[in-house]
Amino acid sequence: MRLLGLFGHPVHHSLSPLMHQAAIKALGLEEKFAYHAFEISPSSLPEAVSALKVLNFCGVNVTIPLKEKVIPFMDQLDSQARLVGAVNVVVNDRESLTGFNTDGIGFLRSLEENIGAKPKKQKVIIFGAGGAARAVTAALGTSGAREIIIINRNPDRAESVAVMLKQLGITVRVYENDSKDIEKEIRTADLIVNATSVGMSHIPGSLLDGYISCLNRKHIVCDIVYHPLETLFLKQASTMGCQVVPGLGMLLYQGAEAFRLWTGQEAPVDIMRAVLEGNLKENKHSSYLPLKKKRES
Ligand SMILES: NC(=O)c1ccc[n+]([C@@H]2O[C@H](COP(=O)([O-])OP(=O)(O)OC[C@H]3O[C@@H](n4cnc5c(N)ncnc54)[C@H](OP(=O)(O)O)[C@@H]3O)[C@@H](O)[C@H]2O)c1
Repeated sequence: MRLLGLFGHPVHHSLSPLMHQAAIKALGLEEKFAYHAFEISPSSLPEAVSALKVLNFCGVNVTIPLKEKVIPFMDQLDSQARLVGAVNVVVNDRESLTGFNTDGIGFLRSLEENIGAKPKKQKVIIFGAGGAARAVTAALGTSGAREIIIINRNPDRAESVAVMLKQLGITVRVYENDSKDIEKEIRTADLIVNATSVGMSHIPGSLLDGYISCLNRKHIVCDIVYHPLETLFLKQASTMGCQVVPGLGMLLYQGAEAFRLWTGQEAPVDIMRAVLEGNLKENKHSSYLPLKKKRES
């Protein structure tokens, strides 16, 4: 038996344990693997990482606030993790730890599986410049996107993503949320992505407000927020006839890629999707509620 798991803080809201345990069971691998969530604060990260080797873990997912902090403990990084500067999957191969970033791969696969789209030569608008936006834009950039327009409230964070993307030789422009130029950029875009936290159940709203009339049937509009399953951002795009891609697919396929890296087997994505959808639809998932509030409810 080899352990798999999730390191982060907080991890009580995460759907990864349910998704991976369902995959392990579906493939009859219960005697080989078990997946558990571990509350790990940044101060206990060194001990937690050494436990991966001591206890012969197969690997772990890494989430907030450890995705960047775990890098110095890796023996090597794959190219996406190095480019993004964050790790969400660790594989332990005979006491050698490799850090991967599967978020971007998850996004690309979701785009392709949902609507058969690929980013090659496309003009992309991305709202957001946080960790997820870095991973998504790095994957879009390495897959041949032609132009990436970053729109973010904090311009320094947007500039930092632009610096990363310029290493790939991509045309990048950066705007703050209220720039007058956004309208014309949206009109000529192929793909529009929300990679901010806006639209999550506890941050309602949509960054497409004010730009809805710029959308048309040729636009592909993606949200990486998955709770709620259908965000206001996607509803607005749907009313204008755009093709839309919900955030659940990215969550599913980043997990499927992690599962493949750990077990060497293709993940049972239909089963994993059913677990995610079931939990999100029934609203069992109290995503990102403060811990105290969750305990009171
Ligand atoms: N589908 C998936 O698999 C997946 C994976 C990872 C993350 N996500 C989702 O992606 C979202 C972002 O995650 P992250 O890890 O990138 O978080 P993060 O690093 O904290 O970044 C948050 C981003 O949202 C922006 N933002 C937050 N509140 C805002 C507001 N009120 N108005 C305008 N912009 C606002 C931030 O702008 P500033 O820089 O200006 O603060 C930043 O760009 C979360 O909803 C998360 O659930 C989904």
